[in-house]
Amino acid sequence: MVEEEKERPEEKTGISRRKFTLGVLVASVLGALGSVFTLLKVLSPGKKGGGYVTTIEPGDGLVYAKGSNAGASIQASSMKTGDAVLAYPAGKTSNPANLVQLIRIDEKDFKAPTDIALTDKGFVAYSAICTHLGCTVSWIRNDKALSASYTECFCHNSIFDPARGAKVMGGPAPIPLAQIGVKVKSNGTLVFTSGFKGPVGPQV
Ligand code: FES
Repeated sequence: MVEEEKERPEEKTGISRRKFTLGVLVASVLGALGSVFTLLKVLSPGKKGGGYVTTIEPGDGLVYAKGSNAGASIQASSMKTGDAVLAYPAGKTSNPANLVQLIRIDEKDFKAPTDIALTDKGFVAYSAICTHLGCTVSWIRNDKALSASYTECFCHNSIFDPARGAKVMGGPAPIPLAQIGVKVKSNGTLVFTSGFKGPVGPQV
């Protein structure tokens, strides 16, 4: 009588082992491709900025970007120290690269590297596009200590200090938000006085 050949334990597990090896190989290749992609992204200067191209020019008026008064000119008198609004240049509101955060700070609180020449009566403006991955930043007002108010990007919690040139105080943002010049006109409205003094959009 021919004894039935028994399957050896290693034969039973052979297919699973091959599948496992193949899985490891595929994961390794995908991981390597991911690293190469990331490297190319970092090294490619054309990718920086995320395609954001601003069109703000000196003389453009500032208008509210959001809310019931979106599109209306911003009056300096409507903003007290510690206030901030999102703003666009009038007539150029369809370009997201033009979005800025206009903030009113006590003038004595400005410190380097804020460009004081680009501020007026405590008004300072920065790009509202986070330099990490391009989310819109928000204003965190500290009513107990207005000088401790700051700008934050909630996407990955980058924090910027508006009194110090929007310096990065925390989070993954690689560089400050770019400052742009503003001034109060004799009729009380605000206008831009320069272009952005730095790169706008994601810088990773
Ligand atoms: S996009 Fe702003 S912290 Fe990541």
